[in-house]
Amino acid sequence: MLSGKQVVLGVTGGIAAYKAVELCRLFVKDGANVRVILTAAAKQFVMPLTFQTVSGNRVYDDLFAGSQLYAVDHVGLAQGADLILIAPATANCLGKLAAGIADDLLTTTLLAADCPVLLAPAMNTKMFENLAVQENLERLVLRGYSIVQPVEGELACGSCGGGRLAPLDVIFAEAKSLLSPVTELKGIRLLVTAGPTREAIDPVRYLTNHSSGKMGYAVAQAAAEQGAEVTLVSGPVTLPTPAGVKIVQVTTAQEMYAAVLSLYPQMDVVVKTAAVADYRPAGVQETKIKKDGDMILSLVRTPDILAELGKYKQNQVLVGFAAETDNLRENALAKLFRKNLELIVANDLTEDGAGFNTDTNVVKLYFKDGQEKQLARMSKLAVAREIISEIKRIMNIAKEIL
Ligand code: PMT
Repeated sequence: MLSGKQVVLGVTGGIAAYKAVELCRLFVKDGANVRVILTAAAKQFVMPLTFQTVSGNRVYDDLFAGSQLYAVDHVGLAQGADLILIAPATANCLGKLAAGIADDLLTTTLLAADCPVLLAPAMNTKMFENLAVQENLERLVLRGYSIVQPVEGELACGSCGGGRLAPLDVIFAEAKSLLSPVTELKGIRLLVTAGPTREAIDPVRYLTNHSSGKMGYAVAQAAAEQGAEVTLVSGPVTLPTPAGVKIVQVTTAQEMYAAVLSLYPQMDVVVKTAAVADYRPAGVQETKIKKDGDMILSLVRTPDILAELGKYKQNQVLVGFAAETDNLRENALAKLFRKNLELIVANDLTEDGAGFNTDTNVVKLYFKDGQEKQLARMSKLAVAREIISEIKRIMNIAKEIL
């Protein structure tokens, strides 16, 4: 039931606009409060009065009209929404969103929103397949928008092909899952490591790597979203801690080792996303090293935290990452078995948009049972959600065997 949920339904100008009336009814029937925004083109297809009657609320169709309810309509509508759904979303609407154009009530509302946004495109097949539309969709996905892909079928133009609005029950189910997130990981204790470590050379210099922490923080967020009790052991990064996540700050590999090992016995799952320095200077100079010709720095190994966890594993699910520039599969599988993991997430650093300090990642998952799964380029949060869903699958399998 969606009672108490505030849904903004944006309707843009395509023939499928008439189907949005039924969609509105589904939300209302399930208890949601629906506020409808119509674009000027949508009003060519459906009367505002139809949506007003079905939703039980006045319809919003003018950026400058002003209502009794909000001081500023587009900000009020955006901030009050638990979900914004655009169905149908025309090519024009997708293009404006991708470009950040805000020239009417719907597009300004979307720019002011920080709730989940679900887009249900519908248009002629050729229009949908047009590279401009596909690139716009890709950009919107990278920004965290959810898309219900159109389906094949008869189109208003008389042709048959892709671009038809997805079935209403599919759009409704997707919207519901965004409105009522699953809490399947409730009671599960999950430890994530993120970021780089810093290994001091002297009081002003250190060894480190390019990790920003984005991937690990996304894993922590995705696990917390599903109700897990998440502890994030983080190297030095500048990211905000995701909501509901307990943070333990560390600097060196040795500190990360101590923090992770002490928490390990209480954990059900450990995801080691951190890029831990493999070496540290043999000794830290107490005073700043002076420039005096070439210098040879003597390095010693840091503890391999994940290998240690693999050694002392009880029932924990262990997930590692591998950042590789060559022989991705061979290197990832070697780490999977040597460190006794259930799953290793391999980033191919030669791929565009993969690896260190990017907002996206391109990864391949290698499982202990021999399965492999390539994920497309997507935002780090979307990758994290995929990893969490694989962890749930592994945990269910483990329960079945027990
Ligand atoms: O932080 P971002 O900018 O978002 O970048 C994300 C990332 C590229 C850092 C991340 O996706 C990633 O690949 N992390 C692991 C990088 C790495 O150090 O891989 P590795 O092959 O050196 O190590 C393999 C595994 O062993 C990792 O899970 C690592 O955490 C762990 N390890 C490594 C060395 C060590 N001394 N202790 C460890 O536990």
